[in-house]
Order: sequence, then C-alpha cells, then structure tokens
Amino acid sequence: MNIVLLGAPGAGKGTQAQKLVEEFGFDHVSTGDLLRAAVKEGTDLGKEAKTYMDAGQLVPDEVVVGLVKERLGQEGDGAGILLDGFPRNTAQAKALDEALAEMGATIDAALLVSVEPAVIVNRLSSRRVCRTCGYTGTADDASCPKCSGEMYQRDDDKPETVQNRLDVYAEQTAPLVGYYQEKGLLREVDGDRPVDDVYVDVKDLLSL
Ligand code: AP5
Ligand code: ZN
Repeated sequence: MNIVLLGAPGAGKGTQAQKLVEEFGFDHVSTGDLLRAAVKEGTDLGKEAKTYMDAGQLVPDEVVVGLVKERLGQEGDGAGILLDGFPRNTAQAKALDEALAEMGATIDAALLVSVEPAVIVNRLSSRRVCRTCGYTGTADDASCPKCSGEMYQRDDDKPETVQNRLDVYAEQTAPLVGYYQEKGLLREVDGDRPVDDVYVDVKDLLSL
C-alpha cells in the first residue's frame, strides 16, 4: 500500500509516519529529511536547498522530484511507500503519479492530518529533533528518549520562518486536498488530539 501524508507543517505527519514505519515497516520517504541530509553533507544540492528551506520556501520542483525518483523503492520490507512532505504542489503530484506508473505502482490513499494554524505555531516552537537518530520530540525532552542523543531545534522552526511555511502551505500545498479528493483517495484525520489517539484513527482510515 502506497500512501501520501498531507498536512500543514507541524501537523504531525512525521510523528505518525514514525509509528507506521515501526509497526508495519513502510518505506518512509520524507523529502524534508532527504533535503536536511543533503544540507548536512554540504553537497551542491544541499547548499542550494538550504537557502529555500531557511526562508520557508519550497525547494525547486526539479531538485525535489529528482531526489524522490532516486530514493523510491530503495528501502522497506515491501509494506509499501509512505510519502511525507511530498508532493507539495500539483506539479509534484503529477510527477509522482508518473514515476510510480513507471514502477507499475499507484497511490492507494492520501491521508490529511488536520490541525488549526494556532496549534501548529505552538508545536513548532517547541519541537526538538535528535541529532543522532532523528527522533522528533518536544522541548520537554532534555535528551533523546530513544538513544540519549542531543536534541536540537530546526533552523526553520524559528517563529519568523514558521509563518512563511504556513503561507506557502495554504497557497501551494492545500490545493492537493482537492487533487486527491477527485481521485477518491482522500482520508482525513483530526490531528489535534494526543498522538496515540490520532494513530488509532490513522490505522482505521488506512484499514491497517
Ligand atoms: P519538512 O521537513 O517536510 O517540514 P514540514 O512539512 O514543514 O513538516 P514538519 O516536519 O514541520 O511537520 P510534521 O507534520 O512532520 O510534524 P511533526 O510530526 O514533526 O520540510 C521542511 C522544508 O524542506 C520545507 O519548508 C521546504 O523548504 C523543504 N521541502 C521539503 N519537502 C519539499 C518538497 N516536496 N518540495 C519543495 N520543498 C520541500 O510534529 C511537529 C511537532 O509537534 C513535534 O514536536 C511533535 O512531537 C509534535 N506533535 C506531533 N503530533 C502531535 C500531537 N498529536 N499532539 C501534540 N504534539 C504533537
Ligand atoms: Zn535519538
């Protein structure tokens, strides 16, 4: 089963993805993670991407689509692909459909995690990520609960960038809700509840 996770920055896509990967072994393809890895390695692609990411803007489609095509089908144990943060506009959604068609695959569900903007601003200001294993937690985690690694704040979680990311989401990514609705693939979960309650509904909506 191949799934697209939709939702505003901070809605909890990555958090739910972590749980689905742990329980079912999905191949988690997060363009944010792929881009941050390129930034950390200091590649030319990473240097180009960083200027967009720091401003809360989308990295150009050709860069992101290239990264995803390279990554598709490389990992996981056959449970399917879990796309997180991609596609982010209609051009990317069409490119994804084409890339999957070449592999003889399709998207089976698009899951929208819905959360109000005011909640999101609070969540992102308190988000911390483990430098060692990538675990996502909050400012309450003094160190990583999984590996004791150091927790850091993402550069784009600073308040001035968060508003740009929310604007970009509303303008460019929200129209994808209609794109997947027309295809009969859209499912929606209320993401403004405790993580485990959201997860119960996520599994239900995906018939897992
Ligand atoms: P990306 O990394 O994809 O960021 P995003 O979409 O903005 O999503 P986030 O990772 O911020 O949020 P999330 O929904 O995963 O929330 P999380 O689970 O972490 O993209 C970053 C940048 O890269 C973009 O701005 C862009 O520049 C570039 N980029 C990436 N993909 C691109 C693409 N396809 N095209 C072009 N550019 C691209 O949760 C957030 C916080 O809330 C955490 O602290 C978590 O612990 C907490 N939390 C989660 N769920 C709950 C809950 N139910 N209750 C309470 N707290 C919760
Ligand atoms: Zn860790």
